[in-house]
Amino acid sequence: MIDKILTKAEQTHVLTQQEIVTLLQSTQPTVLFAAADRTRQKYVGDGVYLRGLIEFSNYCKNDCMYCGIRKSNTRAQRYRLSPAQIVEMARKAVDYGYKTVVLQSGEDGFFSADVMCDIIRQIKKIGLVITLSIGEKKLEEYASYKQAGADRYLLRIETTDKALYEKLDPGMSFENRLRCLQDLKELGYEVGSGSLVGLPGQTLESLAEDLLFFQRLPVDMAGIGPFIPHPDTPLFSETANGHFELSLKMMAIMRLLLPDINIPATTAMETLHPQGRLLALQCGANVVMPNVTEGNYRQKYELYPGKICTGDTPAKCRACIEGKIQSIGRHISQSRGFHGDYLKGK
Ligand code: 5AD
Ligand code: FES
Repeated sequence: MIDKILTKAEQTHVLTQQEIVTLLQSTQPTVLFAAADRTRQKYVGDGVYLRGLIEFSNYCKNDCMYCGIRKSNTRAQRYRLSPAQIVEMARKAVDYGYKTVVLQSGEDGFFSADVMCDIIRQIKKIGLVITLSIGEKKLEEYASYKQAGADRYLLRIETTDKALYEKLDPGMSFENRLRCLQDLKELGYEVGSGSLVGLPGQTLESLAEDLLFFQRLPVDMAGIGPFIPHPDTPLFSETANGHFELSLKMMAIMRLLLPDINIPATTAMETLHPQGRLLALQCGANVVMPNVTEGNYRQKYELYPGKICTGDTPAKCRACIEGKIQSIGRHISQSRGFHGDYLKGK
């Protein structure tokens, strides 16, 4: 049964919702992981793209029930980097050899479109590829960032179960999230999305729908993160039991359905398992996003507890990740890592 589904997936990259659920239920996922690893090797090769992550503000106007920087969390120690600090961190990212920086923050009103565009233009001058991960905005704002030089945008759908989405993200609308992703596609961004795995009330059917949604859009990148309960959120009493393995399965199936996209080995995976990112890289992933935020800001950007590397420097993470990647016979790709570059031989 499993073998038949995997053969079909490897040959056609098409699966039904039921077939995906069967794979997610599998108690012997080794064959699934091996199929994903083969597909990754065949379509995107052994290179791993690094993206330097700058977490520039943890102010957020939203109140997502799972997130440690939700606005109602009065225990979060808020910080906001100045535009000059952000640009300086981007400069250092170049020195570490990163070709892309990901600018991530909560939905912070301080960073108006004008302020963001100014930062984007300055970083663009350094010659970096820019990925934004700053949440839901109006079409005009997305258009102005693009105009200023932004290349990619990350906006996870989190879950495609509309009722669950609206329950866990009070005050937010699922329709608006879809609208944002659609706008970003139409504006010509490389679009990254993704979902959380293990949310209370989430079913295997809805996880399968998430993957079919990424395939329909289609995304250029998608990150799968295990849900890790944060003690200062309403979901504090949940557990993360089983979320690591289920996330690995989700990533592996995603590689089979979208064979040439970029899939990150997420930081949350390594928070749940000491070898989490390496295992992810061997189950379909081909991207790592090392943190380049400096000083004590890192520990304040606490989306979930136990986040790795919060006491480390950008230099430490750079060296650490290179060693890890090489230890599994892979290498850091020197290309800029746009979706499809590998196939085009770039
Ligand atoms: N556990 C894991 N990931 C989380 N995120 C937010 N809160 C948590 C949590 N408790 C993820 C969301 C968001 C990304 C930046 O961090 O998926 O899109
Ligand atoms: Fe930060 Fe390993 S990646 S210490």
